[in-house]
Amino acid sequence: MHTPVLLNEVVEMLEAGPNKKFIDATFGEGGHTRALLEKGSTVLAIDRDSAQIANFKSAINNGKLILKQGNFKDIVALAKEEEFAPVDAILFDLGLSNEQLRSGGKGLSYKNLDERLDMRLDDSCEMDAETILRQYPEKDMIHMFMHNAEETLAVELSKRIALQRVGIRTLTVGWLVEVVNSVAKNNPRPTLTRVFQALRVEVNSEFENLEMALTDSISLLNFHGKIAVISFHSLEDRIVKRFIRTNGYVQVGKKPVFGNSELRFERSAVLRVFHV
Ligand SMILES: C[S@@+](CC[C@H](N)C(=O)[O-])C[C@H]1O[C@@H](n2cnc3c(N)ncnc32)[C@H](O)[C@@H]1O
Repeated sequence: MHTPVLLNEVVEMLEAGPNKKFIDATFGEGGHTRALLEKGSTVLAIDRDSAQIANFKSAINNGKLILKQGNFKDIVALAKEEEFAPVDAILFDLGLSNEQLRSGGKGLSYKNLDERLDMRLDDSCEMDAETILRQYPEKDMIHMFMHNAEETLAVELSKRIALQRVGIRTLTVGWLVEVVNSVAKNNPRPTLTRVFQALRVEVNSEFENLEMALTDSISLLNFHGKIAVISFHSLEDRIVKRFIRTNGYVQVGKKPVFGNSELRFERSAVLRVFHV
């Protein structure tokens, strides 16, 4: 199993141990949860994607894990249903897991060319990615690419999509990759990453969910409770940084902790831990 990003740092900074209670708001493949359980802590683990929960097969079944499908924007209701508060800490490890990217079947990775552009992590999303690319007027697409991923080619890309979507039966990953390649000719890879990010954020309302979850999570913490957030791009990290600053909360350590993996995507990880 793949070791989750910043695992030791999370376990240390959250002071995992016996008699501690944690919410892992982004269960994924269970790496962080497993490490917290191994330290003797009790965990309420949540994931929006039911496949992530169904895939989990753990050797650890010591009655200290509650696993629940749900969106962390509803974190207070989810914790209340399990009478799981107050807690010592809440962890958000944002984005997608390796497994979702590799074999999710939802068009989340620009490498799976034959997949349809769906990208919904659960059924509550109003529109899938294909519907957005078919229905958004050019100006809304420009806003999406700029607001969700700071894409500098937003205007050209939106124009090209509006032209090329006409008459295509199914919008697949391969179709979108071709469109991006034709606009970002010299170095398409960073643009591909940002275009797929922008769409995924839009489909799953990721920024809105994070803002709501951070605000509501505070009420679930005990007196010494902490929140840890691992983000993978500057727009997510900006939401966390602003949330800490505007509320006058205290960040543990002067600087955030940065990912140090050999994998490029994991090197972009930023961990902020804070308390009231
Ligand atoms: C980076 S992975 C987490 C990996 C995990 N820490 C591990 O050790 O395997 C992020 C997970 O968060 C889930 N997720 C994304 N948005 C969510 C939301 N709003 N509510 C709950 N889970 C969410 C994704 O489905 C994915 O499984």
